[in-house]
Amino acid sequence: MDRPFVSLKMATSLDGKIALSNGQSKWITSEASRQKGRELRAAHDGICIGANTAELDDPRLTARMAGAADPVRIIYDSQLRLSAGSILAQTAGDVPVFVFCDQDLKTGDNLLKSMGIRVFPIRRGATGLDLGESLKILMENGVTSLLVEGGGTLAASFLKDGFVDVIHWFRAPMILGGDGRNCISDMTFLSLDNALRFQRQSLEMIGPDTYEVLERIS
Ligand SMILES: NC(=O)c1ccc[n+]([C@@H]2O[C@H](COP(=O)([O-])OP(=O)(O)OC[C@H]3O[C@@H](n4cnc5c(N)ncnc54)[C@H](OP(=O)(O)O)[C@@H]3O)[C@@H](O)[C@H]2O)c1
Repeated sequence: MDRPFVSLKMATSLDGKIALSNGQSKWITSEASRQKGRELRAAHDGICIGANTAELDDPRLTARMAGAADPVRIIYDSQLRLSAGSILAQTAGDVPVFVFCDQDLKTGDNLLKSMGIRVFPIRRGATGLDLGESLKILMENGVTSLLVEGGGTLAASFLKDGFVDVIHWFRAPMILGGDGRNCISDMTFLSLDNALRFQRQSLEMIGPDTYEVLERIS
């Protein structure tokens, strides 16, 4: 394959929500599921999120497991909104951080670069930054497997562009309601024939949650 193997991880309520409308998302799934999530991180070369998740959650995105290598942390951030005070930027010297931004943005003396963050200006695609170009760059930089951790906007782009090979779906027995944030944002299909289809590979309980692995049917 000339691009990384892409896994999409979702940790949702029963009704497919990843946060309340006010952005609160800690925590929907159980500690046992989150531990499994950390194992998934350790099993991938790279982990990526969208600019909104970086801003709202200020995550660390490390595996936090003794003896396990941390994945390269990747942010899709057209306007380089990532704060120099964010945990990602502050820890860039310990675990690599890559940021993809719009090629039209002037990035010359950006502070993030001086903190050790690698900034890759790329083209824009139909739904944001061109994911195909980003995946090519990741492959060239040794990222052969990528875990997409959201949010819903980035997840929808990866799905729509046909880059998701497998879904890891943790679902908590909880309802957040229609005003919660969707795990996958709008796809605007006009026919069920266009729906993306997956085949369930496994289904198990992790604590109170379910954990499904689903493979894309090509
Ligand atoms: N429960 C969970 O497992 C979980 C996991 C992750 C996130 N979350 C929650 O999800 C929420 C954020 O989700 P979100 O949907 O608002 O935002 P998001 O997917 O985190 O970020 C979307 C942003 O990424 C940038 N982007 C660049 N290229 C893109 C592309 N090709 N496709 C899509 N986006 C691209 C765009 O910002 P620019 O135009 O500025 O580049 C876009 O607005 C937060 O509340 C967070 O807590 C929950």
